[in-house]
Amino acid sequence: MLEQIIAELSSQKSPTRLSRYAMLLATAALIEMRDPFTAGHSSRVGRYAAIIAREMDLIADIQKAVRLAGLVHDVGKIGVPMTCLRKAGKLTESEMSEIRKHPVLSYEIVAAVPGLRHIANIVLHHHERFDGDGYPHGLVGEDIPLGSRILCVADSFDAMVTDRAYKPAMSVEDALAELERYAGTQFDPAVVQAFTAYLLCRGLQLPQVQA
Ligand SMILES: [Fe+2]
Repeated sequence: MLEQIIAELSSQKSPTRLSRYAMLLATAALIEMRDPFTAGHSSRVGRYAAIIAREMDLIADIQKAVRLAGLVHDVGKIGVPMTCLRKAGKLTESEMSEIRKHPVLSYEIVAAVPGLRHIANIVLHHHERFDGDGYPHGLVGEDIPLGSRILCVADSFDAMVTDRAYKPAMSVEDALAELERYAGTQFDPAVVQAFTAYLLCRGLQLPQVQA
């Protein structure tokens, strides 16, 4: 299925850039349908990432790029067995290694869409950690693309404040405390600071996001 999607997206026979883009978003939606716990996750990650980019005074093109990258960051999960994605208990080493393939698969899918090559690298590195302990390449600090560092905070935050198969949702306040606890190890402190400032300013109220 993955090879078919990549071939379809990169095919010159696909009538327009828009139709390839629509197909990519449809694939992202399909992944969320496979797991009810992640419904709406990509839309929220895109929205949070754009908010952080704006809060950091990054230019409009970067705000747009991270929003789009958020929408498609996990599209590669289409190539990961459902049994790994939906498992409620502890994952085995081999299940973990299956899951760890998804950023590279996402990269391959996104890079196949001609109008979206500029966001492929942001997607590729969304599970890198600031201290170098992430994947797929173990990049450290500012070697990780800024868009990926933003996506990582947005992605982790949303995972914390929503119910998952393996854990109940955390409060916004507790999730912000977690982001701060791991600022400098898992997360870029500047990104955490921007998102925290935004949420504190709004009385910890989350923005409305259209699924
Ligand atoms: Fe991911």
